[in-house]
Amino acid sequence: NEALRLKYRYLDLRRPVMRKKIENRVKITSFIRRYFEDLNFLEIETPILLKSTPEGARDFLVPSRLRKGRFYALPQSPQTYKQILMVAGFDRYFQIARCFRDEDLRADRQPEFTQLDAEMSFVEPEDIMAITETLFKGLWKKVLGIELSGAFPKITYAEAMRRFGKDAPDMRYGMELVDMTDAVRPSEFGLFKKTLENPENKGAMIAINVDNGATFSRKKVEALVDFVKARGLGGLLWMKVTDDGVTGPGTKHIEDAVKQAIIEKAGAKAGDLILAAVAAKKSAVSAMGALREEVAGQLGLAKANDWRFVWVVDFPMFEYNEEEDRPQAVHHPFTSLLPEDTDLLESDTYKARARAYDIVLNGVELGGGSIRNHDPKVQMRIFRTLGLTREQAMEKFGFLVEALSFGAPPHGGIALGLDRIAMMAIGADSIRDVIAFPKTTAGLDLMSGSPSGVADRQLEELSLRIIRD
Ligand code: AMO
Repeated sequence: NEALRLKYRYLDLRRPVMRKKIENRVKITSFIRRYFEDLNFLEIETPILLKSTPEGARDFLVPSRLRKGRFYALPQSPQTYKQILMVAGFDRYFQIARCFRDEDLRADRQPEFTQLDAEMSFVEPEDIMAITETLFKGLWKKVLGIELSGAFPKITYAEAMRRFGKDAPDMRYGMELVDMTDAVRPSEFGLFKKTLENPENKGAMIAINVDNGATFSRKKVEALVDFVKARGLGGLLWMKVTDDGVTGPGTKHIEDAVKQAIIEKAGAKAGDLILAAVAAKKSAVSAMGALREEVAGQLGLAKANDWRFVWVVDFPMFEYNEEEDRPQAVHHPFTSLLPEDTDLLESDTYKARARAYDIVLNGVELGGGSIRNHDPKVQMRIFRTLGLTREQAMEKFGFLVEALSFGAPPHGGIALGLDRIAMMAIGADSIRDVIAFPKTTAGLDLMSGSPSGVADRQLEELSLRIIRD
């Protein structure tokens, strides 16, 4: 099992399949390095011990011995430094950079990972996108011998959410989300009435139509119900389409005309299966987005060698942080706004769109970037919108704001997740397969046994004491 393989990683790495994966990763890294060097980008290292300025995830902290009670943080990314390099006049920077984030781990997330980080001055989003596309085309040719033709398509965040229920859509198959809210609004069925009439949760009915899905066994459908329940929905309304309408446990309460409207809206035919979430719109959309991928996986619709790169653009700048009851940045606070949306910052905060872009491949976010704020005044307005007072903003980010005030060129960039790129290109199931010494999803290094305790003397030197439960 994987735990045993990780404990004896050196033995596992002797296996030719594992060796091949690491070799391919090395090929990817060296291709990327050569690509940027050929374009006259300078690879400049930025600090690993830096100031804690949380970017979204939790920081890993490092106590300082010389300044007792103070801490460095490990970089979540080189974001602020690469912007400061633009102020310093290094107008084409890149770095194969180690990043650290103390967040919940998954198959495509590690606490330490590697980014290809790049930044340029005097650029528009199209410049960054063009450089990134050419890089991916070169990589795919080099590693897989595959010619990716044509420009990568672009879709807006709003469209990605509406059609796929996810900001990193898998475009290899259809089965797109259908909003049935208006089709079922006239119904007297209690579930519809109760959910749709709730003004607070913006109730909605979001469905997918599974072609020929009526052959799914009861057990298989029940498993899909459990799948959405695990994602916070109360249940799933499912309907098998027949020549006479629809059948299924919830359907006897639905009026014939409404059933007909549902079938039409879904574009369904006899033999299909309609799966629908009736819930608060946000949770319905995200659960159905996840269900779409699950069903596609089960039906084998997602072909392994079908490479559908897509740019997702026009992200909202902010999303609502429920716990703290305030806006938080979807990308990071240094992202600039679409010029036509800058004045929405204070008046209609959640409507303001960012000049940000993500590159997505087959449902996986490979990277993201943006054009930054080079005007310190706009940067301060964004900090204020995030709920920071002037003093708090200057305490956390004063060094950046001050640097911008010395005359900063307009600039922007991107960061690509190198481990994720390797995972996808190599066809690995997990990011751990393309990292020589990865950590488990619990953040453990099973080979060396970290994290571990330290000697009392080490803690004393740092003036730290462990509080044991
Ligand atoms: P972002 O946070 O989107 O952007 O990160 C860029 C890319 O890094 C990868 N990634 C990860 N890979 C493995 N494990 C993780 N825990 C992990 N977290 C992120 C993803 C992601 O798309 N400073 C900005 C970039 C910019 O604006 O230029 C940033 O770090 O592939």
